Amino acid sequence: MRDHIYTDATLATLADPQGWGMIADGVIAIQDGRIAYAGASGAMPARFADFGKSSLGGRLVTPGLIDCHTHLVYAGSRAREFELRLEGASYEEIARAGGGIFSTVEATRTASDEELLDGALARLDRLLAEGVCTVEIKSGYGLDRETELRMLRVASRLAELRPVRISKTFLGAHAIPRGMEANDYLDTICLPTLREAASEGLVDMVDGFCENIAFTPAQIRRVFDVAAELGLPVKLHAEQLSDQGGAALAAEYGALSAEHLEFVGADGIAAMAKAGTVAVILPGAFYFLGETRKPPIQAFRDAGVSMALATDSNPGSSPMTSLLLAMNMGATLFGLTPEECLRGATVNAARALGLSDVGRLAAGQVADLAIWDVTDPAELTYRIGDAPLHKRIFGGVEC
Ligand code: NIG
Ligand code: FE
Repeated sequence: MRDHIYTDATLATLADPQGWGMIADGVIAIQDGRIAYAGASGAMPARFADFGKSSLGGRLVTPGLIDCHTHLVYAGSRAREFELRLEGASYEEIARAGGGIFSTVEATRTASDEELLDGALARLDRLLAEGVCTVEIKSGYGLDRETELRMLRVASRLAELRPVRISKTFLGAHAIPRGMEANDYLDTICLPTLREAASEGLVDMVDGFCENIAFTPAQIRRVFDVAAELGLPVKLHAEQLSDQGGAALAAEYGALSAEHLEFVGADGIAAMAKAGTVAVILPGAFYFLGETRKPPIQAFRDAGVSMALATDSNPGSSPMTSLLLAMNMGATLFGLTPEECLRGATVNAARALGLSDVGRLAAGQVADLAIWDVTDPAELTYRIGDAPLHKRIFGGVEC
């Protein structure tokens, strides 16, 4: 189905900087896997008229959704740790006691490639069932050369096994392996592995965890310097549990995004606005860790910082595989509007990944679409535990 038009569609194009971009009697023409036209039926150029047609019966079409922050490849479960937290232990206490990320590192190191792939595929399929067409996946549960590379290779395999685009992020600076000093880990394992992974074409972006239980700004700087040398864009887990100045540091390096940001201050916000760094809001982790400090949504709006939203799917702080639920939480917990939520899971998520060819319904974009059994785009944020997906189109092909 290379050249095709979808008629009788309700479009939420998100093509302009503001508003849903609604078109009531809309048509989408697809040619060679790209959108050739997205607009009102009355204004469609005549050359598309003899393409094969399907009527969508008035259904809503949005850009295919984009989950721009996940840790989808891992092994093991942290359900026991969840119980400990319910009994009063904090996420930081568990991490300092050698649990948390380290327990997932152990499980991931001992899992086979097949086990890692099977676990990630099951989670990926749940995202795809909600109209997701692009997923970012981070390494960071290996903290050794072999496992970091294996995680990235598994992430690559996913795109061969399913119709989805995968953006791969190297997150070797996620935690400091027990018994090692941070700079020693960077020198002997993390940075050489980043270079090797990049030379294998396994890395699209470089991330780090800047936090009092992880890496200092000075140490993250060392990671970002190598990323810059390799020509790779950066992003950062910043200000999730405390204000380390991570957002400003990320902005200084022209980061695509800074993520979490509950504790970001005015300086960090101003720096992000100046650099065009996207704020990736992760309500799943806020909810699951029982945090109380919310990210400064109104300050991001006032400063003109674009906001994206993601699942942060991971076993420790956000064991969730629903981007629609993240959108609902973004609205209910943080006061994002339904439009901001959809924008955050499409056009702004694309920006957070440095992608300009997905995220909007506009001529020239890759034809990644989600077709929904609703007509009002606010329904996507409003519902809980209900994905009204009719069909997903990936690269112009119905899935
Ligand atoms: O995005 N903040 C650091 N990384 C993950 C959590 C990882 C884990 O606990 O396994 C996050 O929340
Ligand atoms: Fe994360």
